Amino acid sequence: MNSLSSFSVLKGRRLHLGVCGSIAAYKAVEILRALQKADIAVSVTLTEAATRFIAPLTFASLGADPVYTRMFGQDEGVPFGHLQPGRTAEAMLIAPASATTLSRLASGMADEMLAAQALAFPGPIVIAPAMNPHMWLNPATQHNVKLLTERGCTFVYPASGAVACGDTGQGRLAEPEEILLAAAKALLPQDLAGQTLLVTLGPTWESWDGVRVWTNRSTGRMGAALVYAAWLRGATVRAVAGPGVPKLPGGVERHDVESAAQMFEAAKTIWPGADVGIFSAAVADFHPVPFGPEKFKKQSAAAGFSVSFKPNPDILATLAAEARPGQKLLGFAAETSGLEEAARGKLHRKKTHLIAGNLVGGAADSGFAASTNSMFVCDCTGREEIWPVMSKEDVAWRLLDWLSTL
Ligand code: PMT
Repeated sequence: MNSLSSFSVLKGRRLHLGVCGSIAAYKAVEILRALQKADIAVSVTLTEAATRFIAPLTFASLGADPVYTRMFGQDEGVPFGHLQPGRTAEAMLIAPASATTLSRLASGMADEMLAAQALAFPGPIVIAPAMNPHMWLNPATQHNVKLLTERGCTFVYPASGAVACGDTGQGRLAEPEEILLAAAKALLPQDLAGQTLLVTLGPTWESWDGVRVWTNRSTGRMGAALVYAAWLRGATVRAVAGPGVPKLPGGVERHDVESAAQMFEAAKTIWPGADVGIFSAAVADFHPVPFGPEKFKKQSAAAGFSVSFKPNPDILATLAAEARPGQKLLGFAAETSGLEEAARGKLHRKKTHLIAGNLVGGAADSGFAASTNSMFVCDCTGREEIWPVMSKEDVAWRLLDWLSTL
C-alpha cells in the first residue's frame, strides 16, 4: 500500500468514491487517506444508509471534495451533481458496496445519488462489496455481481471470516490494500494487457551446512516495484522471488525459491510462455560446496577453515540465448564502481535488450534496500541515459516505458 504513493504517475489523478451503508463504512476513510497520500484527488458520495454509519463531514474534513449525499435537498447547490463524477473522475470506486446498491446498479436504477452517478459514469468502476454472508450468497446478489462483471465492472470480492453480526462466511470487506490496488489499476493505462512478464527478484540463499547460507543484501524492493508497475499496467506477471521478498499483488503468480538453482528451474519453466523477462534478482554467482545437512561445529576448525565455491548458472544469459524472436529481456547491473562500462559489457555479453545499472554498497539512496535508486540505463540500439535519484516505483515505470519502445 505504501508503494502506491511512490508512483508519480498517480499524482493528480481523480477518483470518485462511493460509500454504502455498512459497518465497514469507516474503512472508506482509510481508503480515502491512502488515495490522498498518493496525491489522488477524491470526491465522495455517501448513500443515505451510509450516513447512518459515518458522517459526510468526516470525508469533507479530510479533504474529499465535493461530498454528495442526496440527489435533492442539501446537494442542490451542485448543478448536475449526478453527472459530475462522470465528467471529472477517471475511475469510480464503490467501497463498501451494499446488496441494495449492487441491485440498483445491475437494474440501472437512478433513484438516488450514487446509483445515478454510477449509471452516468463512462469510465471504469471498481466495486468492493461488504454484507452478511447469506446476503452475499443469495442468488439475487450473485446474479447482480455476474451481470455487473459482464458489463465491465471490476469486483474486489469480500473476504471470509467472522462478520460484525456474528455470522461466519464470505462477506467482510476485502483488505483496503487490495481495494486500493484495484482502484489504482483502474486509474492507469492498461498498455501491458495481454503481455506475460517473468520477473526474478530478491536475493538467493546458497546453503553451506544445515543452518548457514551465502547470500547478499537484496531486499527485493526494486523487483517488487517492477512487479507492481507491470501488474498495474495490466500485464500477467509471473514472479520468481528469492527469500524475504515483500508482499506482491494478489493477482500475481508468485514462485518462492531459495537458491540460484531453484530460481533457474522456475524461470526456465516460465520463460517459453513469457513476452518479456525482467531479471532484477541479485543471484549469487557462486554456491559454496556444501558441508552437509548437519551444523558445522566450530570445535572441528578452531584455527579457521576454507570454503570452496562452484559457479551457479547465469539465468539471464542462458534464457537470453534461448529467446525466441519477439521476446524482450531487461537485465540489471549491480556494481560498486565502473558502472557505465560494466553495464554496457553486460548488455552485449548477456545479449539483453536493456540494462539498468545501479551502484550498490555505497550511497544510502541507491542500490540494496533503498526506497530510491539512481540509474545508468543503456539499450541494444545504443541509447543511453543517466537518471537522477527517484523512487524505485518511478524507475520501474520508466523501465517498462523504455522496454515498450524496443
Ligand atoms: O532488492 P533491492 O534491495 O531493492 O536492491 C535492488 C538491486 C540492487 C538488487 C537491483 O537493483 C539489482 O541491481 N539487481 C541485479 C543484481 C545483480 O545480480 O546484478 P549482476 O550485475 O550481478 O547481474 C547482472 C544481471 O544478470 C542481473 O540482471 C542478474 O539478475 C542476472 N544474473 C546474474 C547472475 C546469475 N547467476 N544469474 C542471473 O540471472
